[in-house]
Amino acid sequence: MKELPIIDTYGRVHTNLRISVTDRCNIRCVYCMPSEDVTFRPKHELLRFEEITRLTRVAAGMGVNKLRITGGEPLVRAGLSELISQLSSINGIEDIALTTNGVLLAKQAESLKAAGLRRLNVSLDGLSDETFFRISRRRGVQQIIDGILHAQQIGFGTIRLNTVIIPGVNDGEIIELAKFARKYGFELRFIEFMPLNSTGHWEMNQVITGASIRGIIEQAIGSLKAVAETDPHQPARDYEYADGGGRVGFVDSVSEPFCSACNRLRLTSEGQLRNCLFSDDGWDARALLRNPATTDDEIRLLIRDCIRAKWAGHGIQNFDFVKPQRAMYEIGG
Ligand code: 5AD
Ligand code: SF4
Repeated sequence: MKELPIIDTYGRVHTNLRISVTDRCNIRCVYCMPSEDVTFRPKHELLRFEEITRLTRVAAGMGVNKLRITGGEPLVRAGLSELISQLSSINGIEDIALTTNGVLLAKQAESLKAAGLRRLNVSLDGLSDETFFRISRRRGVQQIIDGILHAQQIGFGTIRLNTVIIPGVNDGEIIELAKFARKYGFELRFIEFMPLNSTGHWEMNQVITGASIRGIIEQAIGSLKAVAETDPHQPARDYEYADGGGRVGFVDSVSEPFCSACNRLRLTSEGQLRNCLFSDDGWDARALLRNPATTDDEIRLLIRDCIRAKWAGHGIQNFDFVKPQRAMYEIGG
C-alpha cells in the first residue's frame, strides 16, 4: 500500500531526498571548510550502502521520487557507483543526480553512467588555477575541466556548473565562466554565498546577489530573458541568452529565499535526517537502521517527525538569525 506523503505543517510535500555519502573532501573550499585540521568522521559512523538503500526505499514508498547524492565530495566514497545502481533500482525513484567538485570525474564518469546516473552538477568557481587555488586552497583546475568535458563526451546530457562568487576572490571570473559554459552548452548556476562555512566568517556584504551577477553578464555578453518556470520546487531561476546561446541560472538563497516551495529532506553521511540546511536539529536514522528489530513503520515515523518539525524558512535576513553549527560538508550541499 502506498503511504501518505511526507507533508509538513506548512503543507509542503517532500519528494526530494538529498543523500550525503561522506563528509570527506579532496579540496578545501573557503566557503565550506577550514583550511586545516578538519576532523572527519570515522568510517564506521558512515551509513553503509544497504542502510542508505533501505531508508531510500521507505522514503520512496512515501512519495520521494528524486534523489541527489552529495558530500563532502561524494566521489571519494569508495564504490559509489554500486550505491547509485542500488538506488536506481528502487521503485518510484525517477531521477538521480550527483553534486561533485569534479576532481575525480574523469576517472569515474563511465562507471557512474553505467550505474544509471543521468545528471551531474559540478562545482566550478573559476577557470584559472590562481582563482581555483584562492577558492579551494588546492591546485589542478584543469583536471576538473577535463573531467567535465569527458563526462559530456561520454553522453551525460545535463551537466550543470555551480558557482559561488565571493567578492575579491573570484568575482573577476564571472564573464569567463559564462563564456565557457556558453561555448560548451553547460548550464551555469550562480549560488549566493550562504552562511554555511565552518569558520563562521560570513557577512551579508560578502554576498553578490544573483541580480547583480546577471547585470554583469548582460553588460559583457548580451541580454538575458527569464525562462518560464517548469518546476515550482526548483530553487534556481533560469535565464536564456536572447541570442539563443545557452542558459544561466541563479540560486538566490540569501536575497530571494525560496523556502516556501522547499520539498527537500536531507540525510547526512552519518545517518541523521535533517529538514533544513540551516537547522541544527538531526533525527537519528542510523540508530534505527542498525537495530535489526526496526520496522519500516518506525523509519516512516522518524521521517514524519523530522519533517513535522520543519520551520517556515531560514530567515537569514532576520536580525535574530543564528548561523548553524555545521558547515556544508557536514550536512550535504
Ligand atoms: N554557500 C553557497 N554554496 C555553498 N556550497 C558549499 N558551501 C556553500 C556556501 N557556504 C555549494 C558549492 C557546491 C555545493 C556542494 O554546495 O558551490 O556546488
Ligand atoms: Fe528549505 Fe531550509 Fe533550504 Fe529554506 S533553507 S529552502 S527551508 S532546506
